[in-house]
Amino acid sequence: MSDPLAVTLGPLTLNNPILTASGTFGYGLEFTDFVDLAAIGGLCTKGLSLKPHAGNAPPRICETPAGMLNAIGLQNVGVEAFVSEKLPKLRACGATVIANVWGDLEDDYVTVVRALEGADGIAAVELNISCPNVRQGGMLFGNSPPLTRALVAKVRAATRRPLIVKLSPNAPDLVESARAAREAGADILSLVNTFVGMAIAPETARPRISFGTGGLSGPAIRPLAVRMVYQVAKALPGVPLMGIGGIAELSDVLEFLAAGATAIQVGTANFKDPGVSGRLVKELTDYCAARKTTVAALVGRAHRGGGRVGGAAGAEG
Ligand SMILES: Cc1cc2nc3c(=O)[nH]c(=O)nc-3n(C[C@H](O)[C@H](O)[C@H](O)COP(=O)(O)O)c2cc1C
Repeated sequence: MSDPLAVTLGPLTLNNPILTASGTFGYGLEFTDFVDLAAIGGLCTKGLSLKPHAGNAPPRICETPAGMLNAIGLQNVGVEAFVSEKLPKLRACGATVIANVWGDLEDDYVTVVRALEGADGIAAVELNISCPNVRQGGMLFGNSPPLTRALVAKVRAATRRPLIVKLSPNAPDLVESARAAREAGADILSLVNTFVGMAIAPETARPRISFGTGGLSGPAIRPLAVRMVYQVAKALPGVPLMGIGGIAELSDVLEFLAAGATAIQVGTANFKDPGVSGRLVKELTDYCAARKTTVAALVGRAHRGGGRVGGAAGAEG
């Protein structure tokens, strides 16, 4: 039997399906005391822009029930410093690196992707068209299928690397956004980014985060994210998906695989347990060995067999 954990998502083959999500794992190098970067399926870098970016003013995060709100505002070192300072060290660690990219304008995305094109050691590019924490760009692209289509087509023409497009759960019609990204040339779709939320301090009646709103992540969003992966997998069969949203345990990984994701990304859980991704790889290895199965066989199980899932509206209330 070939490697039971290896997965193929279109042009991208990974040793295993456990990755870390952008913005929750630094540039990977901060986590080497906790995780063998070569042992996880891959890591998504903090979102990279053309120039270094300071992000929003503090406070930028706050805890919420079963999750957190953040409005970091895409703070990063810029693509040049990433390529010259971080990437060589990541290569030395044997990491599978996915470069997460954002911009205010279409051309910003294209310029960053071009700047990455000559660099060695990048397995794929992930476009963040779904960040709710910046005033321009980001989520605006992801919330409009025509803008998604135009942006993805332009970036597609600028890179030969596998192209992942990260979808916004805040989009009015996620399936339409997914279809637009795919038709414009995305090889893989990752979903989901954070949900726009808000927390207000009762004593001051001011938002707890300086930006006002923030992106909700963590276990609180998991059922929403699972439903979205299931929906997109059903609407666009055969399109490789990476599932994201509140994953912290092996049972969460299995849930997303069953919903139709071929790989998953661990986000907020890294803050609670920086070694969680390595642990999940071990647990998934043991799970497959005990059942003599492969990860590939676990993908999409919720779609097989009889039984309709969800009513016309999918829920009551
Ligand atoms: C503090 C923080 C920073 C993030 N920064 C980025 C980012 O730069 N680019 C991106 O695509 N997603 C970013 N995200 C979204 C995560 O990658 C992930 O999609 C989201 O948090 C949902 O997964 P989780 O519930 O496992 O955290 C960020 C999330 C958090 C909590």
